Amino acid sequence: MGWYKINKRDLPWRKRENQNFYRIWISEVMLQQTQVKAALPYYNKFLKKWPDLDSFYKASLEEILYQWQGLGYYQRAKNLYLGKEFIKNNKFSIDPNNLKKIPGIGDYISCSIPAILEDQSCTVLDTNIKRIIKRYFGLNEKEKGYKKTVLEIASKLTPQKNNRDYCQSLMDLANIVCKAKSPECKICPIGEKCRTKGHESNKNKKISKIKKRKFGVVFLIEFNSEWLVEHTKEKLLEGLYTFPMTSFFEKEVNILEKKLYENLVLEWKKKHSLEINHRKIDFVNHSFSHFHLKLLIVNIKLNKKVKLKDLQWMKIHKFEKKPVSTLVKKIKKII
Ligand code: ADE
Repeated sequence: MGWYKINKRDLPWRKRENQNFYRIWISEVMLQQTQVKAALPYYNKFLKKWPDLDSFYKASLEEILYQWQGLGYYQRAKNLYLGKEFIKNNKFSIDPNNLKKIPGIGDYISCSIPAILEDQSCTVLDTNIKRIIKRYFGLNEKEKGYKKTVLEIASKLTPQKNNRDYCQSLMDLANIVCKAKSPECKICPIGEKCRTKGHESNKNKKISKIKKRKFGVVFLIEFNSEWLVEHTKEKLLEGLYTFPMTSFFEKEVNILEKKLYENLVLEWKKKHSLEINHRKIDFVNHSFSHFHLKLLIVNIKLNKKVKLKDLQWMKIHKFEKKPVSTLVKKIKKII
């Protein structure tokens, strides 16, 4: 706690004016799967658009997704929508069991909100805090009962008072010192008694896997200033709009990249009975967590509107205002 007093990060959700349920809720949802640095501009923009619960009640799912574009894990945006609809219609109180009834609020956030907002003594445990406990007590993830042990330790350590600062001090320690990849054990304020002292990071250093390379084609199908677009239902990108694309494939060694693209275009056009001339525009590269993608952008100009399953026609200027993924943003920039 002494270390925290000096090293505490100056973050917007820690400011006095942001200490209310709504603003802490938004910050915790954003931070659950996103680094502080990436979440910061989104948090500020979000609160500018919807400064309080009353204004947020009026937001549509599409508007929320629009604000969320580029932040990833879009299920969180949907849960925020479902969450505020739930809150609008149901009474709730700031305690873990009650908060868990709100869609999208699970074990972690149901505790972090009461701790941060009201200094309640509940055990806040996310992957970062788990890492500190694991290292400090020299626990082995592979050992039976590991999860239970971590929870027991975390719960014993949770203070009756000042849990607000205690849990946030661990968050900062995990971020500044006890980092996942290269912990700064030399400057660690609790390093003296730490069982690991950075050894684990050397012994267990994950050999960073080389990401696979995948290939695909995106189709810009055009008629009279309209695009043929898809309103995605796929779990990870649900609610976002996209251009039609092939699936993404790895390339066999004995096949040329050019040939692979040609085959993908031909097959896709055949499948959709769109055997019309196309024009190659460019490539777009994008890295996902598990693979790199090189996507060929293809343009097809139609002289009459066709109907294709799961796709809809949309004026280009209307599409501009729709929520899209980072990949589609990149494609839009190129074209
Ligand atoms: N990650 C999740 N919640 C946080 C908070 N309140 N401060 C810093 N990092 C966090």
